[in-house]
Amino acid sequence: MLGNKVAVITGSSRGIGFAIAKEFAQNCGATVIMCSRSIKQSEKAAQDVGKNAHAMRLDISSSSSVRAFIANVLSRFSRIDILVNNAGYHFDKKIWYKPFHEVTDKEMGAIIDVDLKGSIRLSRAVIPAMIKNGGGIVISISSTPAISGHTEGGAYSIAKAGLIAMTKHIALEYGSKNIRAYTLALGNIRTEATFDSMNDAQKKAAEQENAMKRWGEPDEVARIAANIASDSFSFATGNTIVVDGGSVFL
Ligand SMILES: NC(=O)c1ccc[n+]([C@@H]2O[C@H](COP(=O)([O-])OP(=O)(O)OC[C@H]3O[C@@H](n4cnc5c(N)ncnc54)[C@H](OP(=O)(O)O)[C@@H]3O)[C@@H](O)[C@H]2O)c1
Repeated sequence: MLGNKVAVITGSSRGIGFAIAKEFAQNCGATVIMCSRSIKQSEKAAQDVGKNAHAMRLDISSSSSVRAFIANVLSRFSRIDILVNNAGYHFDKKIWYKPFHEVTDKEMGAIIDVDLKGSIRLSRAVIPAMIKNGGGIVISISSTPAISGHTEGGAYSIAKAGLIAMTKHIALEYGSKNIRAYTLALGNIRTEATFDSMNDAQKKAAEQENAMKRWGEPDEVARIAANIASDSFSFATGNTIVVDGGSVFL
């Protein structure tokens, strides 16, 4: 489905990013670049995925790291066909549960710098290569509170809402260059960062939030991302696709 494509998946050392890289490489034939701030963890992840997976270091909060990363990918693989903006600021309970007006500028800035500006940095950096190659796909991983709002995690919702606007912008400005863009707005997906950080009562409560009464699996997100990146979606762009077991409806 994605044979001969080169895909960059940010934050693919674990969790949802890892599942996307695995799906793209093992089941769809793409060459995947697996990256995070830890080259060790990225190398381990690429080893676990096996053939078609390559590890690199990338810190999306640093413009110089993004520049060096893109130059490295292009020198080794000559092209980037797919970018998945998946990397996100780690779940920090201290900031998440603070009232919005008490979150400091520094805390607000740190979340926006990774969850929004990091994806902007990467997207802007890959666009010239995509234009040169005759097109590409940018998928950004957002979250349902970006659409519905939430009583907690204001900085996160604001940053993730920005991704929806970025997707629409890329779709409109670069559609004529054959670049398509999508946002995946996720509900509760079972990863270390979420499921494993909750107590049993919180896990149960999260399960009850959607029509299917269960957590989503990273593999389910990965298969949707693979379909979107394929030619099956050739005449759809700018879309927000909600993946939450039926809770937030557009
Ligand atoms: N799980 C859910 O229920 C859920 C729901 C809605 C949306 N999402 C979104 O889905 C994405 C993945 O979530 P997850 O649960 O899989 O998270 P996760 O397990 O915490 O993984 C986050 C990934 O991002 C990397 N990362 C963090 N900061 C980075 C930076 N500055 N530069 C480059 N890489 C960085 C991490 O590696 P290093 O720390 O080594 O850099 C890791 O590989 C996030 O954007 C999250 O907001 C998740």
